[in-house]
Amino acid sequence: MKNALLILLVACSSGSGQRQAKGWADGIALGQAEDQDPDTHIVDVSLEARVAPRELRPGVVTELWTYDGQVPGPTLRVRRGDVLRVRFTNHLPAPTTIHWHGLRIDAAMDGSEMTQAPIQPGASFTYELTPPDAGTYWYHPHHDSSGQVGQGLYGALIVEDDEPPLGDEAVLVLSDASVKDDGTLRPPNDTGWFGDYFGREGNVLLVNGRVLPEIKTRTGAPERWRIINASRARFYELSVPDHVLEQVASDGGLLERPRAIGSLRLVPGERMDVVVTPKPEAASRTEVMWHDMDRYGIGYTRDPERLFVLVKSDLPPWSEPARSDAVMRDFSPLDVSTASTRRIELGEKAAGGTTVLAINGQAYSEALPIDAHVGTTEIWEIVNTTSYDHPFHLHGFSFQVLDTKNNLRAREWKDTVNVRGKSTLRFAVYFDDRPGMWMFHCHILDHAALGMMGMLHVIGHGDTHR
Ligand code: C2O
Ligand code: CU
Repeated sequence: MKNALLILLVACSSGSGQRQAKGWADGIALGQAEDQDPDTHIVDVSLEARVAPRELRPGVVTELWTYDGQVPGPTLRVRRGDVLRVRFTNHLPAPTTIHWHGLRIDAAMDGSEMTQAPIQPGASFTYELTPPDAGTYWYHPHHDSSGQVGQGLYGALIVEDDEPPLGDEAVLVLSDASVKDDGTLRPPNDTGWFGDYFGREGNVLLVNGRVLPEIKTRTGAPERWRIINASRARFYELSVPDHVLEQVASDGGLLERPRAIGSLRLVPGERMDVVVTPKPEAASRTEVMWHDMDRYGIGYTRDPERLFVLVKSDLPPWSEPARSDAVMRDFSPLDVSTASTRRIELGEKAAGGTTVLAINGQAYSEALPIDAHVGTTEIWEIVNTTSYDHPFHLHGFSFQVLDTKNNLRAREWKDTVNVRGKSTLRFAVYFDDRPGMWMFHCHILDHAALGMMGMLHVIGHGDTHR
């Protein structure tokens, strides 16, 4: 029985593998963490953070902060409901933690400083996670995260399930690095307060740690890109001319149905899975361009930059059996009829002759946790009183974005969403039975460092203290 199944699987995957030319994704290949546990429901990997040299530009070596010497770190893969055990060792010259961005796991494993003392240089910590939802996630430090992510610490975490085959798959981790001509990194706190206030964008754009890499495509053959914005501050709008773009998943896994889109937009921390299919008229080389999203709201955008290149293989056009736009996933709107509304105000605050960023009038250093209760649904109203954008991220719980009439903006689960300058965004969130301390913050990591971060205490049923 097991063999028959195996043969079937091999047959299916080789069938779909022939869509693309051999080695189509070699230009963006990522390392994979190796599972050391024979149990099929446990993925057991070792991960080590250390400083290591990488050649971002030919002949120029840059010392980056890495997981296992790789940038991005090795891709972690686990099946929904299985255990992912990560035996982590810190060989950095500074303390660190790992946060599993977007996963609905136990608070104790969330890797924020709310739940864990930073892991000291030379020390180890074992994380054990059981991710309940399939989707595209990522991991990064939650101690000095702006500095540490900015120096290279981030990686993809893919939670798999039985999903409809949507195309040949690639993971694309978008990031940038601040590199001087001699290859050395700019200090992570370069430009002081201004850097925090504006958010530091690197001058070198990276896709899977590479400058301007190539991906092969084939006319008519769909590719599913799992895209992660791991940049500390950069927003991305990507144009892919002469290709059909269909979004199939966002932060919390598959959408209810595929959605045709014109460009790909990702704010820091956000993910999107998109099925990309070259049209017959696509050129033999298509440059995928980065476009500025005017996150300062000043009506001025910087020039586009090249990010990666699609190279059409010389294979004849592929004709894919038409895919329906039928339901990919059951999706139920949260019941908000009795939900209370919580106002979260993102703003600036004068402090000691300077300006810091604050949530509900308090910078993180002076903030107290807000309380919520297991088993309740709340509406969060995120009011951005500044004139520039903030990508809002809540740890541990996915949410549904609402319009002003409490209708869903889209049938999807989010954990990171952009709140435009001078605007309000609302979402519904249900606190399932995972009590503990969680964080929420702007995912422009420099903004989080400047104070735009808060704590949420989800109180369990039997939990009377506090
Ligand atoms: Cu990806 Cu608290 O962050
Ligand atoms: Cu912000």
